[in-house]
Amino acid sequence: MTQDEMKKAAAVKALEYIENDTIVGVGTGSTVNYFIDALATMKNKITGAVSSSEESSKRLIAHGIEVFDLNSIDVLDVYVDGADEITKHMSMIKGGGAALTREKIVAAVAKKFICIADDSKRVDVLGDFPLPVEVIPMARSYVARELVKLGGDPVYRQGVITDNGNVILDVYNLSIIDPIQLEVNINAIVGVVTNGLFANRGADILVLGTEANVQVIEN
Ligand code: A5P
Repeated sequence: MTQDEMKKAAAVKALEYIENDTIVGVGTGSTVNYFIDALATMKNKITGAVSSSEESSKRLIAHGIEVFDLNSIDVLDVYVDGADEITKHMSMIKGGGAALTREKIVAAVAKKFICIADDSKRVDVLGDFPLPVEVIPMARSYVARELVKLGGDPVYRQGVITDNGNVILDVYNLSIIDPIQLEVNINAIVGVVTNGLFANRGADILVLGTEANVQVIEN
C-alpha cells in the first residue's frame, strides 16, 4: 500500500468504532479527510459531528453532516484524529495542520481517542517532527526565548494564523524523553495557548495502516 492508501485504510477501519445516533468528534488533516469521506457513507446513521477546525467543518458540511457547537454537547463517545508522531505509549505530537488547540479541546471531552495513521507516524521517541506551539501573537518572542531555555529551537511558522487568531512556533531539536512533563512545562509559559504534545491525554486506540494490513493497537 502507498502512504495514502494506508491512511485511507486506517480511516475506513475507524468507522467500526462509530455507534448509531451519536455525535462524532472529528480531527483535522489528510488522514482525517479520508475519515470524513468514509463517515459520509453512514451519515444517515449518525446525529452529526463536532469538528476541530474550520477546514474539517467545511468538509463535513459539504458532505451534508451536521456540525454541532461543542458547548451544546455533554458527551462525546469517540474522537477520531491523526497524528504527526505516535509512540507505543500512545503519546503524540500533533499540530502539523495548526489545529492543535481545538483538537486538544475536543479530545478532552471525548471518552475515547482513536488515532488513525499510516505507519510512518510510529516512533520510539517523539521530537523528530518539530513540536507545534500555539502562541498569543504579542507573546511570540518571549515564548520563543523561553522555549530556547527548554533546549528547543523555535521557528515562527510564517504566514499561518490559527482558527483562534494566534500564531505557531515549531520547536526543533527537542529530545522528548518525558512528554507528560514537557507538555505541562510548555503550557506553563505565559502566552502559550497550548502545545502539540498529547501525552497527558494520549490516544486510547491506534488504528495503523501498514504496507501489509491495518493494525489495531489498544492502550
Ligand atoms: C492537525 O493540526 C494535526 O494535528 C494532524 O492531525 C496531524 O498533523 C496529522 O495530519 P495528517 O493526517 O495530514 O498526517
